[in-house]
Amino acid sequence: MNSDQTRERETVTNIDSLFRQTHDEYVRTRYIANLHNHALMSLRFDVKDAYEKSVRPAFERDHGRSPETGHEIYKAIGSNLFYRTYSSIRCNAQEMMPQSKQAAIERDLREMIDFARTVANENPAGGTLKTDPDLEMPSYITALDVHLTPGGYHSEFAEDDVAQGVLLGVGHCGPPINPARVFGNVGASVSKWLKSVFPDFAPSNVLDMGTQHGSNLMAYAKEFSQLELYGIDIAAPGLRYGHAKAEQAGVKMHLSQQNAEEIDFPDASFDLVVSSFFFHEIAVPSTKRILAEAFRVLKPGGIMANVELPPHKACEPFLNFMYDWDTNHNNEPNFRNFRSQDSAQLSVEAGFPEHSTFELTIPDAATFPEAQYADFLDGKVPVPLHGRGGWFIFGGRKSGAS
Ligand SMILES: C[S@@+](CC[C@H](N)C(=O)[O-])C[C@H]1O[C@@H](n2cnc3c(N)ncnc32)[C@H](O)[C@@H]1O
Repeated sequence: MNSDQTRERETVTNIDSLFRQTHDEYVRTRYIANLHNHALMSLRFDVKDAYEKSVRPAFERDHGRSPETGHEIYKAIGSNLFYRTYSSIRCNAQEMMPQSKQAAIERDLREMIDFARTVANENPAGGTLKTDPDLEMPSYITALDVHLTPGGYHSEFAEDDVAQGVLLGVGHCGPPINPARVFGNVGASVSKWLKSVFPDFAPSNVLDMGTQHGSNLMAYAKEFSQLELYGIDIAAPGLRYGHAKAEQAGVKMHLSQQNAEEIDFPDASFDLVVSSFFFHEIAVPSTKRILAEAFRVLKPGGIMANVELPPHKACEPFLNFMYDWDTNHNNEPNFRNFRSQDSAQLSVEAGFPEHSTFELTIPDAATFPEAQYADFLDGKVPVPLHGRGGWFIFGGRKSGAS
């Protein structure tokens, strides 16, 4: 008997338990994740070494100065063997990861769809799910398979399809980008920081833009009790998958398929508007429309907080080059352009008073020692690096009483 024939049919308690990889499929997924992490955690130091020892000196000889931007480094390093090895491992891992999951999803997709449908009809936790089959997809969603994931976020091949949601949501959002990026840490980190810095702030509701399957949104309810959770996303499969997961976990979330460029909520609806890893995938003119919408739907005294890659201005050239890798290799063409902007200025342009804006790296709630949190707030400990113990955030507070 092979592992396909022996795989068990366990009791279905949540949608993830319908993702039943064979032994070989599971091992392949883990191998690819480890390969990807090996590039990120280890080979990147070889790239840095190669840059310092050969690429930078050659650039200095030719130009009489060091590279000043990440893009200059990208152009100079292109043919370096270490960089090519690092990049090809990352690209291949990124492409192999969905392939390693697809067979298990296709085998049990009918059951997954039925499960999500039943949960959406019954709503045991009292949440809601609203999809919009007529919603027009922006070209930055449809033109490329974002993250090299076939079908991207939005593709649907069956009625009430959840396949892309499971593909991107089950286990990890693609290969784990970083061990610190466990789902929920981002929401937990932002809510902890908000609570520490704005002790008067007691939001009654939160809107997460580009929520995908709402995993980060859930974490906000832990820090702020009685918080009503709202999440919007352009893509339905992730929302269906996230809704099924949340309802089965007893978490009440209101998820709806919407374009954040035209949010379907009245002015002044929310105390808190958040997002994570959202803006860098979006065309720059659209990011400005979304930020203006975030401002519009905030109540007076409300706060917007977005977790994103730090802008170019906050990083040295080599770090910018490494952070911008996805622009050229991971089907995320807006990445570099987004980071080239001034994040504080973006909040001001959206309507936030300049004095109320913030842009900083906050501690990751799960990895930063609790005992040092007060010291961090007082500026007494070194600021953790984004993605390595910290998260860059930008936003502002709307004028008026909360
Ligand atoms: C990189 S994922 C981030 C998901 C999640 N926030 C997280 O932190 O893991 C970006 C999400 O934004 C969604 N998205 C992209 N453009 C959008 C738009 N205009 N309106 C709403 N959602 C959008 C995508 O469908 C995707 O789910």
